[in-house]
Amino acid sequence: MTSRPRNLGTPQLVGYRKPDRGTQPDFLYPPYVSTIKRSPREPLVMLPASLSEITGPLFGPESTKPEDSDLTCHAEGEPIGERIIVSGRVLDGNGRAVPHTLVEIWQANAAGRYRHRNDQHDAPLDPNFHGWGRTLTDADGNYRFVTIKPGAYPWKNSHNAWRPAHIHFSLFGAAFATRLVTQMYFPGDPLLDADPMFGSIPDENARRRLVSTFDWQTTVPEQALGFRFDIVLRGRDETPTEGGLTR
Ligand SMILES: [Fe+2]
Repeated sequence: MTSRPRNLGTPQLVGYRKPDRGTQPDFLYPPYVSTIKRSPREPLVMLPASLSEITGPLFGPESTKPEDSDLTCHAEGEPIGERIIVSGRVLDGNGRAVPHTLVEIWQANAAGRYRHRNDQHDAPLDPNFHGWGRTLTDADGNYRFVTIKPGAYPWKNSHNAWRPAHIHFSLFGAAFATRLVTQMYFPGDPLLDADPMFGSIPDENARRRLVSTFDWQTTVPEQALGFRFDIVLRGRDETPTEGGLTR
């Protein structure tokens, strides 16, 4: 995407390794029907990145409140569902921690319903769950959310199509140009192999990078199961991106 501007003198902007072939979803993947209309018909035109895109925005501690990382504490009552801890590290293309960077998530509730006017799934809303959160990584690139395990939900991609349980992630990295939007899945989900969003990533190893791992270390006794999900912004181990998909 971006090349390092000459004379900028900023070590963090050193060039990155491109991801291996097949590790990112194709623009056109007919089983994922929306890509037929959405994918480009002409060769892409690469626009030069401006300084504002490669040097910001910068999100500091004022960007988040401590309770923003706990999606279970925003109403009088507890949300319905299985309480979980989702945590991991954000890393750059060289395996180094990305500290103090904004991580945002959004998700369906335990019944598979988003609190959004476009979601008409016949499943109940939960008055105690709004379904979004944000936090900053710490000095070692760690992030942590408390939330509810989302439910699967139907969508109209094809007959009897169901999305596997997932949590949407947005990571800013160091700048707009390094923003990554992706989805985290859960281990052992029988819907994964039938999901065309998941399947649009040709490389199996890359697909599996989107599946979190169950983790005893972060499981809290009597409270919540832990799931780990590390995210790599660039390079050979780059986490597959969604290309702007939000559903
Ligand atoms: Fe979704």
